Amino acid sequence: MSRPDASLLRHRDALEVHWPSGTVSHLYFLWLRDNCSCEECRVIQTSEKRFLISDVPADIAPLAVSLDGDRLVLVWPDGHETVYTRTDIEALHAADTGDWTPWDRDFVPARYPFQAFLDDDSLAAAAITEFLDRGALLLRQAPTRPGTLELLAPRLGPIREVLFARIHDVQVDPGGYNVAHTSNTLPPHNDFASYSWPPSVQALHMLVNEAAGGESVIVDGWNVLGTLRERHPDHFRALCEMPVPFREFDDDNETYAVAPLVRCDGDGNIVALRFSNQLMQTLDPGAPGIGEFYRAYHALCGLLTADKFKASFRLDGGDILIVAAHRVLHGREAFEAAGARHLQDAYFELDNVRNHLVVLQRKGGRIAND
Ligand SMILES: [Fe+2]
Ligand SMILES: [Zn+2]
Repeated sequence: MSRPDASLLRHRDALEVHWPSGTVSHLYFLWLRDNCSCEECRVIQTSEKRFLISDVPADIAPLAVSLDGDRLVLVWPDGHETVYTRTDIEALHAADTGDWTPWDRDFVPARYPFQAFLDDDSLAAAAITEFLDRGALLLRQAPTRPGTLELLAPRLGPIREVLFARIHDVQVDPGGYNVAHTSNTLPPHNDFASYSWPPSVQALHMLVNEAAGGESVIVDGWNVLGTLRERHPDHFRALCEMPVPFREFDDDNETYAVAPLVRCDGDGNIVALRFSNQLMQTLDPGAPGIGEFYRAYHALCGLLTADKFKASFRLDGGDILIVAAHRVLHGREAFEAAGARHLQDAYFELDNVRNHLVVLQRKGGRIAND
């Protein structure tokens, strides 16, 4: 056994480490055993974990612990030795990438030339960083050929395919399966609420817009939810709890999902809003909590369509609007069907967009270090 050390306090199932710098870490024994980074506990080639937590008892405790400067050494009952440094452990505290900046009616998405976004790595990294912070981005001067959205795959992709089409055409179509195929107003919504994991990124490419009206509208749904949570925490809770059915279908396709409108992570941070007036199905009138839910839903709908939160602008031919679709809702004003208007949609996933940014940053770091 090591000598008792004033900088190490041993509790029943955890260790309190007082580092020489004055900072304190509270570390559970199971955590300390699980995250051992020795070559027996890791696959060194891939940096993956090999050690399996159920191979040790739940009440495992180190036989000996010692602190030598910033080096913490533990010896386990089977003789296995684990070493941590203060910097290893503090780096784990800092791994928070969830920052975002809310916006309302005065917001204008950052604009970048389409071709430069594809060709210029540092411009693409700046554009994606902006996108992750604000949830919206506008690419301009894109080709107006159908299928142009395929060209974004190296930056955002792969394309997330859903039923109906790989690239969706949005134009007035008397046989269309969705209100988007009329010239009616489209209230703010996200697409494919009828999937249990709706696409988390949507690109809307205007090929031609010669119709009067039809201004595009986007809403920062998370900002709206933050406001609602502040004013009416009970409404917010009801939206997190009530399962709501959504359906989108035509003769050949049937998509259906049941989920609450709002999803939070374990810390209560909002991670997804699901909102589609057109796809929402009728709720069971006897569902427990339906009265509370409807009051909350009314308040949410009022905020999502309020002028205060709606950023609106006209998309011209060659414009591509990209939105983080679990956060930012899109819609449009009604337009006059006499003029040509043709939009195409494709979907991507935010995890893949983040991956592209990380790879661009690594590449940039390598170039800077060369
Ligand atoms: Fe849509
Ligand atoms: Zn180990």
